[in-house]
Amino acid sequence: MAGFLNLVSGYFSIPWLLIEMWREQRLNSRYGKFRGKVVLVTGASSGIGKELAKQLFKQGAKLILASRSTEKLLELRDELKSMQCSVPIYVPAVLTIDLEQVGELAGKSKEAWQLFGRVDILVNCGGMSVRGGVVDTQLHVYRRLMEVNYFGSVELTRNIVTRMVEEGCGLVVNISSIQGLISLPDRSAYSASKHAIQAFSDSLRAEVYSAGVRVLVVSPGYVNTELSLNSLTSSGEKHNKLDPTTLNGYSVEYVAKEIIRSILNEDKEVVLAPVHHRLVVVIRTLLPRIYFYIMQKRAQKNK
Ligand SMILES: NC(=O)c1ccc[n+]([C@@H]2O[C@H](COP(=O)([O-])OP(=O)(O)OC[C@H]3O[C@@H](n4cnc5c(N)ncnc54)[C@H](OP(=O)(O)O)[C@@H]3O)[C@@H](O)[C@H]2O)c1
Repeated sequence: MAGFLNLVSGYFSIPWLLIEMWREQRLNSRYGKFRGKVVLVTGASSGIGKELAKQLFKQGAKLILASRSTEKLLELRDELKSMQCSVPIYVPAVLTIDLEQVGELAGKSKEAWQLFGRVDILVNCGGMSVRGGVVDTQLHVYRRLMEVNYFGSVELTRNIVTRMVEEGCGLVVNISSIQGLISLPDRSAYSASKHAIQAFSDSLRAEVYSAGVRVLVVSPGYVNTELSLNSLTSSGEKHNKLDPTTLNGYSVEYVAKEIIRSILNEDKEVVLAPVHHRLVVVIRTLLPRIYFYIMQKRAQKNK
């Protein structure tokens, strides 16, 4: 039996390898499209945003690194500056931004635009998560999640897109989550904020299309970053634990590369998750009762 399975997998692995090589070669040949493009990345101090910034920098993008931690951003800038690259590179700019301070974001957007005279791509990657049931999670925690994951990105997008529309081009990449498509127990505040950004993005995509501005929504499953460490508990404290699901998630290198591939493919949305997680999204749409049952079981298990 094992011999038969090896034979079958051998037959499938060769075409799969060839497809992967072709995809890789196709991606490499199109990287030049980022040369000189101004990319504003929020959440650039850590995880997905940081890795995305690194990969875009190596392709000659003019980066604006944004988050709250100026020191981490300056460290990243120095790390990037010292990289050996095969294309001309541009020293990244650093923009200290707190997505929770929504009132400051119009000014920050203006500042961002002035740094290189334009913004070609806005990547809304800054965000946080939560661990806590609906009843236990305090209202201020819900509000904080919405401020950071939703209102912050909305306000930044509104201001940057206004200028993109005037220019007649631009791209907004919203890093949502598979939890923007399906809600999990003990993640209501996070799931709600990510569902909100999905809905916002769908309206935005339709509205700005004729002005030449495009919108991509990326919905990753678990990714190995500090997201769970930085998550809030139901009372708003720092969770400070690295969850096994996050630890065993996709690597940031893989996720950043797939985001870049989706940008180059001019995709409108992409779900970066294993097949069984994507299947749950399909079940939620087509067979909701089964989805409700699965989640009810999961909630019982969490207790
Ligand atoms: N990791 C996953 O499993 C996963 C799965 C799906 C989606 N995502 C999404 O991917 C995005 C990036 O998360 P990550 O996994 O890379 O987590 P991470 O390592 O914790 O990075 C989060 C980033 O968001 C920034 N940030 C947090 N609060 C902010 C605020 N108030 N203002 C400005 N920036 C803020 C942080 O920078 P500062 O602390 O310096 O401000 C940091 O750079 C998030 O939107 C997350 O929801 C992650």
